[in-house]
Amino acid sequence: MKVFVTGGAGYIGSHVVKLLGRHGHNVLVYDNLSTGHEWAVLAGRLVRGDLNDCQLLRDTLKDYQPDAVMHFAASIEVEESTREPLTYYRNNVVNSINLLEAITGLGIEYFIYSSTAAAYGAPDTSPVDENTPLNPINPYGTTKVMVEKILQDIAASRDLKYIALRYFNVAGADPDCEIGQAYSHATHLITRALKTAQGSQGRLSVFGTDYPTRDGTCVRDYIHVADLSSAHLLALMYLRQSGLSDIMNCGYGHGFSVLDVINVAKNVTGVDFPVELAERRPGDPPELVADSSKLERLTGWTPLHDDLPFIIETAWNWEKKLSGKVGITDK
Ligand code: UFG
Repeated sequence: MKVFVTGGAGYIGSHVVKLLGRHGHNVLVYDNLSTGHEWAVLAGRLVRGDLNDCQLLRDTLKDYQPDAVMHFAASIEVEESTREPLTYYRNNVVNSINLLEAITGLGIEYFIYSSTAAAYGAPDTSPVDENTPLNPINPYGTTKVMVEKILQDIAASRDLKYIALRYFNVAGADPDCEIGQAYSHATHLITRALKTAQGSQGRLSVFGTDYPTRDGTCVRDYIHVADLSSAHLLALMYLRQSGLSDIMNCGYGHGFSVLDVINVAKNVTGVDFPVELAERRPGDPPELVADSSKLERLTGWTPLHDDLPFIIETAWNWEKKLSGKVGITDK
């Protein structure tokens, strides 16, 4: 298939692009390289472009004539979204509308959308399935829910079928260590823990120790980026075969607290890095754990890396490569 991938030079997008290439798909990546990297695009072709450049977007799509679109490009940090909500609404909602307008009339039938567990807000139940009420507690989550609703309306009005994948906490790196997370300013727990172990950050803050969880710190469902990538390919195949739009959670179904993650990171790295207990971070729900049985049932998804030490080990291998290898920089 010909697949147009927005944000395909970014962390998750680049892993999916690599997998699409391995499976013989033809890929065109459209990415403004604000957080992505040219070197991360290991399959297909890269067009450097912004989703707010409607002319370039439409011309590129018209010229490429894809069968499917995968839409990763977005702003993704919960805390930042509470400080800069308008940036999030513009980048995540307005730019998604630009993309959906640009594909109108091109006969593109399949759309895979990167949604998030943040759509559920702070749910009362755990794990959460897709019928759990959507009550986002931060602007990031709200933007993702808004685009899910837009997709639902568009799918009802014309021949576009979509799968929205609600990601839980994506982590780890390509087991071949060719690509991984490379942000200038890391905010994610595992990346920060590893940067602290490496010595490039003084200490790791634990944001909040008074949550109603086992040890008082937030609990998340950490999913390896390679398993999330395979979910995208399977979702696309499912969509092509069934023609049925749907929304599916992507996680493993068990949660680890911030302190659990720190312990595993210390074991994997062999570094007893400094940790400080800190205030809660705005926008954080206490616990988010996925019920992904729908994804498994409908697409046949079988995770291969449901193992926190392995997730952290792949991320650690990548961090070491990132800091040592010439030509790979985090910007
Ligand atoms: N945390 C710390 N210290 C840090 C960084 C994070 O204690 O230095 C804590 C956070 O407060 C949170 C947990 O670790 O409780 C996980 O935080 P991350 O920043 O790694 O991830 P989030 O859960 O905030 O968000 C991620 C993605 C979102 C997605 C969400 C779904 O960034 O896009 O997972 O669960 F929506």
